[in-house]
Amino acid sequence: MSDLAHIPAPFRDDIDDVVLTAEQISDRLTELAAEVDRDYAGRELLIVGVLKGAIFVMSDLARRLHVPSSMDFMAVSSYGSATTSSGTVRILKDLDTDIEGQDVLLVEDIVDSGLTLDYLFKNLRSRKPASLEVLSLLTKPSRREVDLPLRYVGFEIPDVFVVGYGLDFAERYRGLSDIVSLKPGIYAS
Ligand code: IMP
Repeated sequence: MSDLAHIPAPFRDDIDDVVLTAEQISDRLTELAAEVDRDYAGRELLIVGVLKGAIFVMSDLARRLHVPSSMDFMAVSSYGSATTSSGTVRILKDLDTDIEGQDVLLVEDIVDSGLTLDYLFKNLRSRKPASLEVLSLLTKPSRREVDLPLRYVGFEIPDVFVVGYGLDFAERYRGLSDIVSLKPGIYAS
């Protein structure tokens, strides 16, 4: 059990444990950015963030990249229960950019069943980018329902519901610096 003293008081009682510290996340993103730099050397990259969960991954990744990159965002909603998605995805905000012919890196916070990303990947591929790869900070392999081409993965985590560092439950906890698990009573009703 981790020391939760640094977690802001209003959230502390809701948290079960720290799954990844801010430092672990930062170190891993530095490694991933170096990999991306190597793979895209001499090219320009369009990084596409999936709102809202990927905001911190996007900003921390972009600041570590040395290859020239531009940014765009999509927002999607995935119908389902509070903590699972159904695969029926609706685009709430589309890209501003035409991605045809561009090298696109889709940036996700977490891949759980994979249904949301499966939809997004196929949708973006149909727009004929020069290349399309996926970076996800987190993945829960035990929950996967579809096979996905995840090029860059930060961490594999067990089947626990996590929040913080952009991830929410009912729009709360996104601003926490660590990724933490919630007490089941908070989200299982
Ligand atoms: P999927 O379609 O099941 O892969 O779900 C992907 C989306 O569900 C993510 O982009 C998150 O918005 C949300 N999600 C899945 N697992 C978690 C979690 O543990 N915490 C917070 N959000 C999650």
